[in-house]
Amino acid sequence: MTERVKVLFDETRLQERVAQMGAQITSACRGQDLVLVVVLKGSFVFAADLARRIDLPLTVDFLGLRSYGDGTETSGVVQITSDLSRSIEGRDVIVVEDIVDTGLTMAYLLDNLRTRRPRSLRVAALLHKPARTRIVVPIDWLGFTVDDVFVVGYGLDHAERYRNLPYIGVLEPGPSATTGTSGAVGS
Ligand code: IMP
Repeated sequence: MTERVKVLFDETRLQERVAQMGAQITSACRGQDLVLVVVLKGSFVFAADLARRIDLPLTVDFLGLRSYGDGTETSGVVQITSDLSRSIEGRDVIVVEDIVDTGLTMAYLLDNLRTRRPRSLRVAALLHKPARTRIVVPIDWLGFTVDDVFVVGYGLDHAERYRNLPYIGVLEPGPSATTGTSGAVGS
């Protein structure tokens, strides 16, 4: 089967927005003991760009999550597959997440992190799909809202593919192409 990826946010737009988010975090978090908690795998590209736009001392840690569902839908049952390497007690945590869809994953994660007694706990999410919200979670810094479509690229995958696209696009069935601004990929 071939698939096309229709560009939703191109590289320039992503970089501009991530720079704005970094500047906002920089002015809001001065003097704090910042740790970015990066949710793997989908957030690795966003986190790498965001971290370089935050002009403050900080550390970075990673947390692997697996949520169970039918492929494009989470069930809200979440397992930590790889935990943080250090304690976050007393620290100012910013969870860096690629996308908040139903909110179930983030709700679980925030509950879990809260038990570790950080001084503060905030969320920077690149994307949010408000139409699919099942649990409202606080998002302190948000990149873009998206409609109820399945997006890939810039870290986000479908069956582990497309994470390396430099833009975010919508996966659509159709003939593949190899070049062009449509961003078509596939095999
Ligand atoms: P939630 O628990 O429904 O909010 O889902 C959160 C997780 O589902 C995200 O961290 C992503 O890994 C995945 N996810 C949700 N929507 C998409 C999408 O459109 N593209 C790729 N992954 C998605």
